[in-house]
Amino acid sequence: MNTPSALPRRIRLLAVAGARPNFMKIAPLMKELLRRADRFEPILVHTGQHYDQAMSESFFRDLAIPEPDVNLGVGSGTHGEQTAQVLVAIEKLLLERRPDVVLVVGDVNSTIAATLAAVKLHIPVAHVESGLRSGDRAMPEEINRILTDAVSDWLFTTEPAAETNLLREGVAPERIHFVGNVMIDTLLAHRERARALDTLDRLGLEPGGYAVLTLHRPSNVDSPDQLRRLFRVLSRLGDRLPVVFPVHPRTRNAIENNLKGERIQLRMTEPLGYLEFLRLLMDAQMVLTDSGGIQEETTALGVPCLTLRDSTERPVTVSEGTNTIVGTDPGAIEAAIEKQLGCKTVERRRPALWDGEAAVRIVEILERDLGRRIDGSSGSDAGTQSQNR
Ligand code: UD1
Repeated sequence: MNTPSALPRRIRLLAVAGARPNFMKIAPLMKELLRRADRFEPILVHTGQHYDQAMSESFFRDLAIPEPDVNLGVGSGTHGEQTAQVLVAIEKLLLERRPDVVLVVGDVNSTIAATLAAVKLHIPVAHVESGLRSGDRAMPEEINRILTDAVSDWLFTTEPAAETNLLREGVAPERIHFVGNVMIDTLLAHRERARALDTLDRLGLEPGGYAVLTLHRPSNVDSPDQLRRLFRVLSRLGDRLPVVFPVHPRTRNAIENNLKGERIQLRMTEPLGYLEFLRLLMDAQMVLTDSGGIQEETTALGVPCLTLRDSTERPVTVSEGTNTIVGTDPGAIEAAIEKQLGCKTVERRRPALWDGEAAVRIVEILERDLGRRIDGSSGSDAGTQSQNR
């Protein structure tokens, strides 16, 4: 009961993270939620989509993310299996914990599964990194993004194109909040710690004298022919300067199964922790990647990025940042590498609101909207939908 003398009930927020790119997004949000522990009661759930020490635990340690309250331990599987397992497990948890809101980030299978479980229980969902669209429905993440946005209540966006996409899909403007980029909150908060690491010395690299490569998209690594074509052109770059290549488990499996005997002139390493990887990105001459997040990180750092995909869902990294969409054709990649090797200057602007304060903005909006709702009601209102906002 709310009496004039009673303290308002805290907002019970269940935050979900599952795969590597989620962890750097959830970190600043958890920090901000815990800073406002008088108003929020956060519950952190790890779905277990990623589980290796190098893919999960090391990020919790590097980024000081609190130990998850619950780990659902779903592990790997087909899309159907993985999504379904998170859906079933998280529904049970939501029924037990009855949060006021579920907070999801990014576009992985854990994101859509948690969202679906929540909305069916009439628990409102806040989606961080909403509205990004590559236009490529063959990407599993694109489907996750479209579906998550369609049923979320708060749509927190990182760049102007996201709002345009959401409005085009018929989302009510009052649900859209342009807040900036939580991934860049994390980068700015950890840049100096990363700079102090001896990673370059340890790997025998000179600042500006090496490239960094990451590859893990199914469209690039699951087809043996495509992977072989990519490795041939990238190994030719490796003949000219060191190319450090931390290998994602999906890619490692593909190399082991499909590329036996192939010449690979790349400095392959295990997946790196957040700080070590950031240290490498900072002083790279160029970065080659098919990741979404790395396109943003290189833009924030002012490091040239060649994206080995045909499209991007993050166009601000091209229009204002340092990103070039090169595609996956070996000839086009070779030409882009050649051009980049001959280019000495980098032009870029930091995109609006990529200033380290995105998590603060998000938590303020949730506190304002949910606080109002909770202070005006007694007990849990987990059944209240966003139409009431
Ligand atoms: C997932 C996300 C992708 C994200 C990527 C970052 C989806 C649809 N995809 O792709 O958006 O960019 O994470 O890493 O959610 N594996 C391990 N150890 C682990 C995790 C995975 O060995 O800790 C191996 C397993 O063989 C697994 C494979 O990697 O089958 C793929 O993992 P999965 O989570 O299914 O997809 P990712 O390719 O990692």
